[in-house]
Amino acid sequence: MAFNKDSIAGTMVFTIVLCLVCSFMITGTADVLKERKLVKKRDELMRNVLVAANVEGVTHDNFREIFNAKVTPVLVSLETGEPVAAENLLDYDTNMAAINPETSSKISKDIAKIKTRANNIRIFKVNNDQGQLQTVVLPVYGKGLWSIIYGFIGMEKDLNTVEGIVFYEHGETPGIGDFVNREEWRTTWHGKQIYNGTGAVALKIVKGGANPSDVNGVDGVSGATRTGAGVQNLINFWFGAEGYANLIEKLKAAGV
Ligand SMILES: Cc1cc2nc3c(=O)[nH]c(=O)nc-3n(C[C@H](O)[C@H](O)[C@H](O)COP(=O)(O)O)c2cc1C
Repeated sequence: MAFNKDSIAGTMVFTIVLCLVCSFMITGTADVLKERKLVKKRDELMRNVLVAANVEGVTHDNFREIFNAKVTPVLVSLETGEPVAAENLLDYDTNMAAINPETSSKISKDIAKIKTRANNIRIFKVNNDQGQLQTVVLPVYGKGLWSIIYGFIGMEKDLNTVEGIVFYEHGETPGIGDFVNREEWRTTWHGKQIYNGTGAVALKIVKGGANPSDVNGVDGVSGATRTGAGVQNLINFWFGAEGYANLIEKLKAAGV
């Protein structure tokens, strides 16, 4: 018996086949896009780490090669300061780790206004051309005026002097609070020191401008003091007792 495509059964078969074809196409496209999204995320991570570490000669074409040659991601426990075994660290989801109750801790003195933080944090060790450790890049984030500001801070081997910073994601007002991303402001952090002689966090964003000879002072930006205060708070938090203080002591004791 010939199949009648104009019958009810024919219409049903046509509809089912069309639905199957469309769902395969959507699943296939989602898979391809997922992979592309991952690659883009890794690329952004690599670029931001290299900016924070102030690595010279990085271009659009060579950043992956430079990253792979010089940078080692390491997962560390903030409680013990010790490394934690982990695979695929480039794809480690820091934000997820920070909100999952099984992998995070509530913060008792929440000056950065982030509520919880991951127990294990991915840091990056960056070598120079001779293969010796030059910079340690630490993730930092906290609430600005409107948004959580995410960044990386590159520390020299003394784990006190800033090599470079990058704030790569925020929702502060364009033209006002987005100075955190401007290169001329970011570069003023180079050479500044986080801690003072007694080991207290001393880096200050100074309203009206820091004295150039002040090793702890970074210029504030007038008209955007509240974003600056957010950056100050996140520095105070991450370099304090509930942030990297333990890790920094451990790394220093181990000669990094
Ligand atoms: C629409 C609007 C958006 C603003 N966005 C920001 C911002 O992103 N960051 C910020 O620090 N201040 C922002 N401000 C300004 C703050 O409300 C506040 O006046 C300023 O931070 C104070 O800085 P000052 O003490 O240097 O004057 C904004 C103000 C307005 C009206």
